[in-house]
Amino acid sequence: MVKYINYKMTNSSYFVIFFIALSISSCKSKTDNLQSYGGTYLKDLYKGDFKIGAALNAGQILGRDSLALPLIPREFNTITPENIMKCEVIHPEWNRYNFDLSDKIVDLSAKNKMFLVGHTLIWHSQLSPFVRRIKSPDSLKMFMKEHISTITSRYKGKINGWDVVNEALEEDGTMRKSIFYNLLGDDYIVEAFRLAQAADPKCELYYNDYNIEQPKKRAGAIEIIKKIQKAGVRIDGVGIQGHWSIRGLPFKDIEESIKEFSALGIKVMFTELDITVLPNPWDLRGADVNQNFESKPEMNPYPKSLPDSVQVALANQYGTLFELFLKYKDNVDRVTFWGVADGNSWLNGWPIRGRTNYPLLFDRNYKPKPAYYRVSSLKKLNKGA
Ligand code: G3I
Repeated sequence: MVKYINYKMTNSSYFVIFFIALSISSCKSKTDNLQSYGGTYLKDLYKGDFKIGAALNAGQILGRDSLALPLIPREFNTITPENIMKCEVIHPEWNRYNFDLSDKIVDLSAKNKMFLVGHTLIWHSQLSPFVRRIKSPDSLKMFMKEHISTITSRYKGKINGWDVVNEALEEDGTMRKSIFYNLLGDDYIVEAFRLAQAADPKCELYYNDYNIEQPKKRAGAIEIIKKIQKAGVRIDGVGIQGHWSIRGLPFKDIEESIKEFSALGIKVMFTELDITVLPNPWDLRGADVNQNFESKPEMNPYPKSLPDSVQVALANQYGTLFELFLKYKDNVDRVTFWGVADGNSWLNGWPIRGRTNYPLLFDRNYKPKPAYYRVSSLKKLNKGA
């Protein structure tokens, strides 16, 4: 028989066999994919534990990103606009608002029944030039009232939760010396929550910041939250942003933060999760801030692809993190990634422009990475147990 086959082999039969083998292997890899997914996606796997979300850029909101389009409602049950609800976009001039893109994300979330988080009402960054020019407390108060009331009442009942105040703290836990603090003192925070509550009484209201898992900054956030509560104003949750590095996540601080923030009777959310795999200038001993890091190849070590060892390390960090989230699933309300796929991440452009970073669960082709499978396998194992 073997002889017969050998004898009968012509060039064209080699081709046929090659294609059969190819289709068997491609079927197998599709099956592998399906098995890994188990036909169930992140939002379904974590249903009953916490919401799973992503920040969307303008192209994704407009439906121009054909690969992201089906993936977003399949994997996520909550979305946040990455940039388009920030002051400089939505309220460019005193008497002019631009709701084009924010109306679109409201439609997208309604169509797919996703929990929509508004980001963000009061933030010192990405302010419109007219706000930066304000010099008097009264004018700034007027801006806050107009801005918060106009936007929250327009989306009353449509936006489910608002990052009312973003990043009001310095690293040492004291108040950031922003235009709001400088002109209004720290009362501006309570006032912002009061205005948002009045405009949309049912919407959830959050304080959102980075590094607030760190003890000093956490203490500052706790002070802010207590002050809002003491004033009889509602705050529903705190957002720990979660911009961390593969070189080590602060697991102990994260755990302590979940406990301390929950003790205040509010929801804990991880709102801007990503894990950079690249070196940062401030990690380099003796780094000279005047150096031109953009031209240094050692600052962009994986321009073509991520080595397997780093993929595994990233998966391990994500795995340990989600194990922790699951341990506190009664306190953790939402985990939102800051972007959908690696190619969209702000970390390709910050703190050094033009690098290739890999901080999310989906690669540049929107394919799930080992980190994705690690995060989903935690739930599959639990479900099977
Ligand atoms: O919209 C302009 C575009 O017109 C212009 O051509 C282009 C040229 O660079 O810039 C575009 O603006 C960029 C904007 O993102 C929209 O893409 C800005 O340069 C860029 O600085 C801006 O970065 C955003 C950053 O906030 C600004 O502070 C990131 O995308 C966004 O991910 C990031 O998100 C913040 C959260 O809101 C708050 N927490 C920290 C987080 C990361 O910095």
